[in-house]
Amino acid sequence: MAIAFKQETFRDDFSYRNSPENIRRFPFPFDRDEYMYSVNMEPHVKGQKGTVFESLIDVDEHYIAEMHDRALVLRDDPLRYQALPHMMTAQWDTLELLMEEQAAGYPEHFTLIRNGDRWRWINRPLGIDDTFTFGDTATLPYEPLEYITRQAQGDFCIVDQRDGNLWMDAGMVTTQADWSLDFDIGMNFMEWHGPVPLAHQAGVFDRALKFLLNLQQGKPTRRFNWTMTINPRLDTSPENYPKWGPDRATVTPENVGEKVHLRVELQSLWRLPRSNAILFVIRCYLMNMNELVTVPKWARRFPRVLRTLPPELIDYKGLTRYRQTTIDWLSKYDDGAPTSPGT
Ligand code: HEM
Repeated sequence: MAIAFKQETFRDDFSYRNSPENIRRFPFPFDRDEYMYSVNMEPHVKGQKGTVFESLIDVDEHYIAEMHDRALVLRDDPLRYQALPHMMTAQWDTLELLMEEQAAGYPEHFTLIRNGDRWRWINRPLGIDDTFTFGDTATLPYEPLEYITRQAQGDFCIVDQRDGNLWMDAGMVTTQADWSLDFDIGMNFMEWHGPVPLAHQAGVFDRALKFLLNLQQGKPTRRFNWTMTINPRLDTSPENYPKWGPDRATVTPENVGEKVHLRVELQSLWRLPRSNAILFVIRCYLMNMNELVTVPKWARRFPRVLRTLPPELIDYKGLTRYRQTTIDWLSKYDDGAPTSPGT
């Protein structure tokens, strides 16, 4: 069924909202009343209709608005897209993967026609109909990774595998939770995870790296990460900290419902066929507290998670200024009933 794309903004007047149908498919990430880092990985396989797992690359009602916001970020700061020279094969791998998955999942919106190396790509929501030669960058208006990620929701990193490690050697990162591709480019798995508290000591990153080094083609994997954001702002980058950092001091008991957002990242990891690199997709979902409390079990569980969060995570995720105000506001929806495991 065709998606009804919304016109909305992630800045200035912040008109972004979820439709009731989109709230129902929101990937609420908590399967119990507390949260701690773990190697929470599972096969990235298709799920039921009406969930974000309906297609392996998810497109939703925010697609056009998100692509517009990405274009604005890139206009002001072209370094949000970067690729080291040895990543060209991996760029083409990624273009192929995203075109194939979007066309397979949403044939009414995207079509890929291959005739040998001559490919035609039709993207109806964005009004694009391009014919190009696969492998020949001169036939596209941008490098392949930039071209296709201007047309795909989420942030994207391509990590190269060598010397028993993973290296962040290419990416399109415009909707990130306070980290910078420009800072991390060329770093390895342990280096870019350097700022994360508690997880290194718990062996989470050693195990995760070992797992990823053995990732097989055709068997993508996924995990959830989450944080919170004030206002529905996609671009919470260190580069723009002066624009969004002060928002965290604006939360009051009166505006929690509208201003405070749960930000969930559905991260999927794909071994790429020609380059042997790994594509890391960070698909971001935002939902404000008014929307969250329309689902009673989420309204009950989320304040419990916030209440029991380790202090190191509260600090790292930047929740210190408004966590208690949010718990107080949400607590009226928590009747104390036990929640069963699972979302
Ligand atoms: C955070 C990238 C895979 C667990 C981060 C950050 C980056 C990142 C850039 C932010 C660090 C900062 O504060 O500057 C990546 C990339 C991956 C990957 C490119 C794949 C190649 C994984 C995996 C795990 C993981 C497999 C599984 C355990 C975490 C955790 C955080 C984090 C727990 C902290 C998140 C938070 O509390 O908000 N990752 N990551 N990452 N990553 Fe990864």
